[in-house]
Amino acid sequence: MTQPIDPTPQAHVLVVDDDEIMRSAANESLVEAGFQVSEAENGLEALKSLEEVRPDIILLDVLMPEMDGYATAEAIRQLAGFEMVPILIMTALDDLDSINRAYEAGATDFVTKPLNWVILVQRIRYMIRAVQTMNAQKRLQIELQQAQKLEAVATLAGGVAHDFNNLLQAILGSAELLRMDRLKDAPGIGELEDIIAAVERGGKLVRQLLTYSRKIRSEKRTIRLNYQVKQVHQLLQRTLPKMIDIELRLADDLHHVNADAVQMEQVLMNLAVNAKDAMPEGGKLVIETANVDRWEKHEGPPPQLVRREGVQLSIADTGKGMSSDTREHIFEPFFSTKAPGKGTGLGLSMVHGIVRNHDGQITCRSTPGEGTNFEIYLPAVEGLPQEAKRSVKKVRLEGHETLLLVDDDDVIRRAGQKRLEKAGYKVFAVSNGEEALEIFGTRAGEIDLVLLDLIMPGIGGLKCLQTMLKIAPRLKFVIISGHIEDELDLPNITSKPPTCLRKPFAHDRLLTAIREVLDDDAPPAPDHEPGPEPTAKATRITKFPNRLAERPLQFIRPNQRRKNS
Ligand SMILES: Nc1ncnc2c1ncn2[C@@H]1O[C@H](COP(=O)(O)OP(=O)(O)OP(=O)(O)O)[C@@H](O)[C@H]1O
Ligand SMILES: [Mg+2]
Repeated sequence: MTQPIDPTPQAHVLVVDDDEIMRSAANESLVEAGFQVSEAENGLEALKSLEEVRPDIILLDVLMPEMDGYATAEAIRQLAGFEMVPILIMTALDDLDSINRAYEAGATDFVTKPLNWVILVQRIRYMIRAVQTMNAQKRLQIELQQAQKLEAVATLAGGVAHDFNNLLQAILGSAELLRMDRLKDAPGIGELEDIIAAVERGGKLVRQLLTYSRKIRSEKRTIRLNYQVKQVHQLLQRTLPKMIDIELRLADDLHHVNADAVQMEQVLMNLAVNAKDAMPEGGKLVIETANVDRWEKHEGPPPQLVRREGVQLSIADTGKGMSSDTREHIFEPFFSTKAPGKGTGLGLSMVHGIVRNHDGQITCRSTPGEGTNFEIYLPAVEGLPQEAKRSVKKVRLEGHETLLLVDDDDVIRRAGQKRLEKAGYKVFAVSNGEEALEIFGTRAGEIDLVLLDLIMPGIGGLKCLQTMLKIAPRLKFVIISGHIEDELDLPNITSKPPTCLRKPFAHDRLLTAIREVLDDDAPPAPDHEPGPEPTAKATRITKFPNRLAERPLQFIRPNQRRKNS
């Protein structure tokens, strides 16, 4: 025998009938079956009560004074939020015309009196379930479309940011050189400072875009999020207005997650600042961590649901909340409802990029006038927290070694060469891999370090480097990269993680990176060590692991061209 479905937990039925006996019969049967029931004597009363009752289904009589069932059904369908609520017309009329009128008016189904309540209760359950399934599918569809849209925007933003980085690097390099050549009070020095400051701001914007499009590497290690929450909490206590009450609710036994500690703090700060902005009159900000389990689809064979442990971070405020229209767009870059100049609209897109980069999920619930709650889910990992390595070694900037600088961008190359020569280095500067190999062929013994861009026309940086390493396996080098995707192309070229400098970088960062590599006499490490604790500075000098499996070196075909940057 087929089992009846469980009653929908406390589904709410609105019974609209002018006949009191009929209403109480319905009430009795439905309450007994586990439903919550509200009653209305006529159509007008029903319409008035809809907002408050929010029924899951409406049972509607046809012949009623003031407003009959057809007109009531039509009116309900016009109300926002009630387009999909099932309406079951119940009437003594059973002629074809009445049936058609009911459906035309927007009814979902039609039953004729006298009613069999045992059957009707089952029918109501299945109708509610069907609508809930349809709504869930619709929601999933909307979420999917939203995710696809964000993905497309991220790709676009990432591409723009990449090219923009090159321009910023060229401007920064030249401006820094001009500033070096001038005395402190020389004419134009103020304007140069302004240019450099503007480029630095531009660099920050580009980095936010790159974070959104997940083109910034996360320096992940095993952490317990409570520590980052406490750090941010301390900062918020000092910086948020006193009329905002901050409450922490931290789980004692919180699972570990594999996450970038700095990025987690960025996430918390962005959400907290948004919450502050939503509570100009004050209110409450609650930051909470908890262990959660999730059921995830595991693609077979056989396909099954597996339970996955995770961590949930919630940030809730009692601020002004947002409309569903606003909520739909909040993760899009440059979407902001703040006054011009008050917000770039990049905060939440960055948060979204970071969470996705951690295999996590972020959801937002918000009610206008009541507040907003962001929930972030991150998968848990086994293991003990790893200490962050902080090295604050002071590095000198100048040197007398010989460098080979390979970059196809004329401005970046010229500015770089000048600055390096000013720092005392001897520099060979070339614009592509082929020329670099030509010089290297005759002067390999002389060159102490190669500085090279990865994306160049011709054989490109990677093949050029591989060939040089064949000739001189202990060659020191620093890679200049536009963004993370350039770096991901790097095969296992050395046993030690290469040093990478991401554009746009100030010349001091370049000089520091060069010195660090030149002065590092340690033998190549067999395994990758955790990278340095990332800083919030303009550019990260990143050591990245040789991720890809070992590949044999490839011989160069001079005509083979890599993609142009
Ligand atoms: N806690 C919140 N309460 C109400 N609205 C919010 C909240 N958080 C975000 N929003 C809405 O989402 C929009 C986008 O937020 P996002 O952080 O991306 O940009 P922003 O805060 O406007 O600018 P930025 O963060 O770049 O300074 C906000 O302008 C605001 O309308
Ligand atoms: Mg913001």
